[in-house]
Amino acid sequence: MMAHWTLDDIPWDRFDRAKVDPEILRIVKAASLVEQNGGDYARYLCGVFADDPLFKEAATRWGNEEIQHGQALGRWAALADPAFDHAAACARFSAGFRVDLDATASVRGSRARELVARCIVETGTSSYYTALADATDEPVLKAICKRIAADELRHYKLFLMHLERYLAVEGLGFWGRLRVALGRIRESEDDELAFAYHAANEVIGVYDRGRSNRAYARRAYSVYRKHHIERGIAMVLKAVGLTPNGRLNRVATNVSWWFMRQRIARLEREAA
Ligand SMILES: [Fe+2]
Ligand SMILES: [Fe+2]
Repeated sequence: MMAHWTLDDIPWDRFDRAKVDPEILRIVKAASLVEQNGGDYARYLCGVFADDPLFKEAATRWGNEEIQHGQALGRWAALADPAFDHAAACARFSAGFRVDLDATASVRGSRARELVARCIVETGTSSYYTALADATDEPVLKAICKRIAADELRHYKLFLMHLERYLAVEGLGFWGRLRVALGRIRESEDDELAFAYHAANEVIGVYDRGRSNRAYARRAYSVYRKHHIERGIAMVLKAVGLTPNGRLNRVATNVSWWFMRQRIARLEREAA
């Protein structure tokens, strides 16, 4: 394991208020809640992998790193918006979105499937924070996102390593892996991120999943550039056992990029 950073390594004194983009601030607030929830996910993973001490140790360390991502982003959001109360927002989020802490089997159906899903999540976060680091001109947020992106890539490699171990045990084939991967990608449009956006930004009125999802997606998708998508697709292809950087990547990248641009244009027209 590489040496990990702490909150003290972040150059907080370089914070530049003039460079805070209010739209990015909204999605950073949402991300700070989802990351903070990593502790609950670690507990869930320790239940699923109850007789695997090697994995449990790694999952516990992983969960602590995710919590730290939440703390760094939350602290930055409070610098940018002193009215933002990270702890209170976390409490609002946890009250409405709960991970099954007492699970003894993966909600994905098996341990190998669970690990495929974890690889997809880390692919998503790794490309998202790389894109955010590139999109923001605010020096402190840039420094935080670069560190987080490096962690997420390391997390992806960690879960991929354990996936290879469990693939040998379970014999989960290509189609099984692909199905889990596509299912997990689709879920990114589910409740977790939309509700985090709602809870973090104190959206007035009751939670409207569709509206929050569109508001979140419009801002989050806008930070991506095509090369971020290309890299994410390479990681997904590798997780399902395909060549990461071949012709398939080029096709999938072009198709995904086109759909993403269409989606952003539609969301902008709707003023989501
Ligand atoms: Fe994270
Ligand atoms: Fe991660």
